[in-house]
Amino acid sequence: MGLSDMSRRDFMRAAGAAAAAFSVGLADTRSDLVAQTAGGSTDLLRVGMVGPGVQGRNVMTNCARVPGVKFTAVCDIFPDNLTKGLEIAGEGAKGFADYREMLEKADIDAVMIATPLNWHCEMTLAALDAGKHVFCEKMMSYSIEQGRQMVRKQRETGLVLQIGHQRRYNPTYLHALNLLEKEGVLGRITMIRALWHRNGDWRRPVPDPKYERLMNWRLYRETSQGLMAELGSHQVDVANWVLKALPTAVVGMGTRGYWTDGRDILDDVEVLYEYPNGVKLVYTSITQNARDDYYEQIMGDGGTLVLTHENQGLLFREARAEKLDWEQYAHKDDKGGVVLDSQATKGKGKDKDKGSEALEGAGENPYYLEMADWVRCIREGDTPHCNGLVAFESDVACLMANASIAQRRFINLPPEIYAV
Ligand SMILES: NC(=O)c1ccc[n+]([C@@H]2O[C@H](COP(=O)([O-])OP(=O)(O)OC[C@H]3O[C@@H](n4cnc5c(N)ncnc54)[C@H](O)[C@@H]3O)[C@@H](O)[C@H]2O)c1
Repeated sequence: MGLSDMSRRDFMRAAGAAAAAFSVGLADTRSDLVAQTAGGSTDLLRVGMVGPGVQGRNVMTNCARVPGVKFTAVCDIFPDNLTKGLEIAGEGAKGFADYREMLEKADIDAVMIATPLNWHCEMTLAALDAGKHVFCEKMMSYSIEQGRQMVRKQRETGLVLQIGHQRRYNPTYLHALNLLEKEGVLGRITMIRALWHRNGDWRRPVPDPKYERLMNWRLYRETSQGLMAELGSHQVDVANWVLKALPTAVVGMGTRGYWTDGRDILDDVEVLYEYPNGVKLVYTSITQNARDDYYEQIMGDGGTLVLTHENQGLLFREARAEKLDWEQYAHKDDKGGVVLDSQATKGKGKDKDKGSEALEGAGENPYYLEMADWVRCIREGDTPHCNGLVAFESDVACLMANASIAQRRFINLPPEIYAV
């Protein structure tokens, strides 16, 4: 997988090196961590924020904690959100209603984009063309062709483009995936089941009907690619990451019409992906039943790994698999799952005197970690773990699932479809 694989290794190496630095318990202070994860430098980085809505304010608040970051400009077409964004930015930041004007007039080195999906490509291309590094929220692109344009533009300019799949920076995921890779704890992986189930209309209350399309952009195909984009893209990305492979075929179904409020996106999606060697990803996202909540469950002939709520990893060994040598020392949950604790990657219980070893960022907010690594990549000229190509690969899979549902057919995904 070229670049994406390379940057994944780089990130794991960086995490491993930092883990070694953290090997004596958690004696190191949070401020040490903050400095390390930002690349050890506190050079001023001037950032402009486009779209400080719900997620924009989340990533902005986390980015503002990274040493040396100053938000000098904020842009939003919705005045309330512009005001909220400027409050986070603090003194001296300039407000804009037009992102092009911001790119032209503001003193900025980098841009964060958290607008609705239909804007991502246009804004990213313009920011890269203006010489700014970019962090753009997931899903990266509204269409496959737009995604290609974004990756190509990044390559052309050599600037940093990072996409907001924060699981790639989450210590729980990094720890679990490290164990899979190093210790092969699941044996041969044959299937992944991932889902995001909710019971609700996914609708935001609007203060005035004129704001319906702006605030409920997720519900309309003109601005949204629905559940596969908003929820599925995170989880398909995890499957690609775990399997180090890309889907070779997809078939899906979906339903429209449960919610009758004028929306035109699907109410639920049920999708089956084929990966090389017959491995399958079974994916569902529904809005009418919340019993299963959300998780990614990775199944092998030696065990099952459940990654849930973006903060817990549980390992269940198959009866026929050999016992792991460290299993007896591990903490178990009430269902007998081994709790994978990124704050004590090894040694806990067994080597109490040596202290436990925490993975870099253990206990830290994954959104902070993704922002700190974006800043580090800009300062060090590095390629982000979740770069444009990584995001493009899961975008293709999600958009083709939507195509399969719309066309009611099984679709092969040849390697050319992932070519940029
Ligand atoms: N990584 C995650 O876990 C995560 C979570 C939620 C949302 N997201 C992503 O973040 C993005 C935003 O989602 P949200 O829930 O914050 O949406 P939102 O509607 O709350 O925020 C979007 C903001 O963009 C502004 N905007 C719209 N068009 C604009 C334009 N042309 N110029 C300037 N501003 C404009 C809106 O006024 C709004 O303030 C989406 O891509 C979404 O998929 C990611």
